Amino acid sequence: MAPLGFIFIGGSVNSAVDTVRPLVWTSSGLEVLDQRRLPFEVVYNTYQNVHQVAEAIATMQVRGAPAIGIAAAYGVVLAGHDRFAKDSLSWREGLETDMGVLAASRPTAVNLFWALDRMRSVIAGLSDPAQNPQQVLEQEAIAIHAADIEGNFMMGRLGARYLQNASGLLTHCNTGSLATGGYGTALGVIRSAVSEGGKAVYATETRPWSQGARLTIWELNQDRIPATLIADSAAAFLMQSGRIQWVIVGADRIAANGDTANKIGTYALSVAARYHGVKMMVVAPMSTIDWKTVSGQEIHIEERDGGELLSESFRGNGSVIDAWNPVFDVTPAGLIDVIVTEKGVVENPGIESMKSLLN
Ligand code: MRU
Repeated sequence: MAPLGFIFIGGSVNSAVDTVRPLVWTSSGLEVLDQRRLPFEVVYNTYQNVHQVAEAIATMQVRGAPAIGIAAAYGVVLAGHDRFAKDSLSWREGLETDMGVLAASRPTAVNLFWALDRMRSVIAGLSDPAQNPQQVLEQEAIAIHAADIEGNFMMGRLGARYLQNASGLLTHCNTGSLATGGYGTALGVIRSAVSEGGKAVYATETRPWSQGARLTIWELNQDRIPATLIADSAAAFLMQSGRIQWVIVGADRIAANGDTANKIGTYALSVAARYHGVKMMVVAPMSTIDWKTVSGQEIHIEERDGGELLSESFRGNGSVIDAWNPVFDVTPAGLIDVIVTEKGVVENPGIESMKSLLN
């Protein structure tokens, strides 16, 4: 690949409690921290074409809604470079095909489609059909990446205000630096709250991919933030014990009425939280809100291979055992106490209160 104009190393880390960056844009391409190999190995793979980036998303080398969107934006930069080099007149059609490949990589996180639309707008804004799109596409991807990190700092501040009197916080899946440009959404709020002191942090394992046990725990350990891991099935008992006052999660897609798709198990946490008088906070950037989707019922929930749940002995010939593996669920807005975005906060989300974010 020809040298690109800019180098963006994934945003500067802002303190000793925020040191991890999952995506690094360099003159050789997109470096992706392979999250399948954590916590045992820290390996960055360098990808130089759009197919590699789409594969990295589909196979969960990079995961987490905002990080998926950022990776896709860089995938478009790589595709734009290759398509223009091949044919400087009709590169647009080829690039649209490549964006289709990225769009097919994972269905639920709306940030992917939002990022592709942002890149499409840049292309639509080019007045000269023969202009090389490389520079403007690259600028846009870097802007998406940098704005995500900035937004996370803002959400951290806004969300932490609700937690001043809390002594225990529970999070689910991984919503930290690994799932975003950096710092994190729900885990960003937890970072901000913890820096003020006096909080115990609990993280669920998050079966079957173990994003909590492998990624959140690794990330918090890197940043020296003390945390306690629990089995997913221990969450309701933790609430009953009185040790936590808030459940804080991210989102993959928030419908216009506040219904929220997030990692499987979030709905169960919200039901248990309401029963025990524990508050539920969803933290997500505006790019996660899908205003075109009226309610959570319309959200496409990704189902992955049942083999991710089955041990070796139950797979393949002769086995009568199947597995159902939906990897997200929808929490109704009525079970959410507050949604935090970088543009503001919505308490008691619903179709009317959500509109305040548009002003
Ligand atoms: O399947 P994953 O690991 O991509 O799922 C991630 C989640 O569900 C996160 O909670 C969500 O994307 C928010 S990340 C800031």
